[in-house]
Amino acid sequence: MSGGRIPVTLITGAAGEIGQALLHRLAEGGGQPIVTVDLRPLSAGAPGRSHREHFRGDILDPALWEGLLRRYRPTLIFHLAAILSTRAESVPVLAHRVNADGAARVLALAADLATSDEPVRFVFPSSIAVYGLPSQEAKEVAAPVSEDEHLDPATLYGAQKLYVERLGAIVERLGGGLDFRAVRLPGLISSDTLPQGGTSDWAPELIHAAARSEPYSCFVHRGARLPFCAMPDAVEGILRLAFREKSSLTRSAYNLGGASLSAAEIIARVARDFPDLEVRFELDPRRDRIVASWPGAVDDAAARRDFGFAPAHDEETLFSRYLIPGIRRRYQHPVRLPR
Ligand code: NAD
Ligand code: SER
Repeated sequence: MSGGRIPVTLITGAAGEIGQALLHRLAEGGGQPIVTVDLRPLSAGAPGRSHREHFRGDILDPALWEGLLRRYRPTLIFHLAAILSTRAESVPVLAHRVNADGAARVLALAADLATSDEPVRFVFPSSIAVYGLPSQEAKEVAAPVSEDEHLDPATLYGAQKLYVERLGAIVERLGGGLDFRAVRLPGLISSDTLPQGGTSDWAPELIHAAARSEPYSCFVHRGARLPFCAMPDAVEGILRLAFREKSSLTRSAYNLGGASLSAAEIIARVARDFPDLEVRFELDPRRDRIVASWPGAVDDAAARRDFGFAPAHDEETLFSRYLIPGIRRRYQHPVRLPR
């Protein structure tokens, strides 16, 4: 206990895709109690034995934090709550409030709680959206992008992610005990859940549609390419960064990489297991432009070196060992997807 309050790990955005996977991973291992925050309830099913309490509410609501901080003292924070890239462009004012103001508020709370004797660790999932390649042609010839190149985001979401990365690093440098760490995630694909409001959503949507024997309308062109990572590999990477001693870290924001795949390559691979797959291309020029500005591959050497990021799946086993068997199981024994 600290000042009568219980030290906890806090996950905001815990009802989201990454939040659910991270909560299950963390809570199954026991350890420090976990409290969660989200606008939505947690999905059905036991979240794990160390989960203590879910606060349903808005990260922008001061009353939510008053209630939470009366009882708990977060020492490790995973700040996941956000509005993803495609949706952020359609609700720009709200996206700014949640992705920039909301994150700044949670960072300020963390900085207030931190002391040099009792630091607070703040882990932030940033995104490949912080990069902005000037054209499709430039993207096609670019080498895997490393952390300090092309930091010229083309979207509000990307600019908000970069702002929070910079803010976190600056607050840490001010001293006082805040320990800020960020990962720039590629597109993530889960066999259990579907994304909503992101721009990399075509890949998971297409694979889940194939398993449900439904036709799919793809909103990007055939050659659209992004790096994709299996959800468990990304969660493992986030946890490795979160628990690494500070002295091993040489940066505040790290790329996590993944298999570099185009829409056509994903379709060809999925059709090997689901030969009836039917895909129509109905381009959404706005989303296609966003993808054109994001790198097709990122260099994650720093994450591998500094905190041992080592994804278990490559381009082939992402499908053969993770997605295809997991998604088949999902739809053979259907349970309602969280969204
Ligand atoms: P998600 O949309 O599934 O989850 C976000 C969660 O935040 C949702 O459950 C939502 O209800 C909650 N939320 C939104 N606004 C809130 C508010 N005002 N107060 C409280 N909760 C709120 O997204 P995800 O894929 O789980 O992403 C989690 C984090 O990882 C986000 O910060 C996202 O930007 C980042 N990220 C995700 C990906 C990806 O491919 N999934 C890639 C890069 C970065
Ligand atoms: N996958 C995320 C999105 O598409 C990138 O942060 O929004």
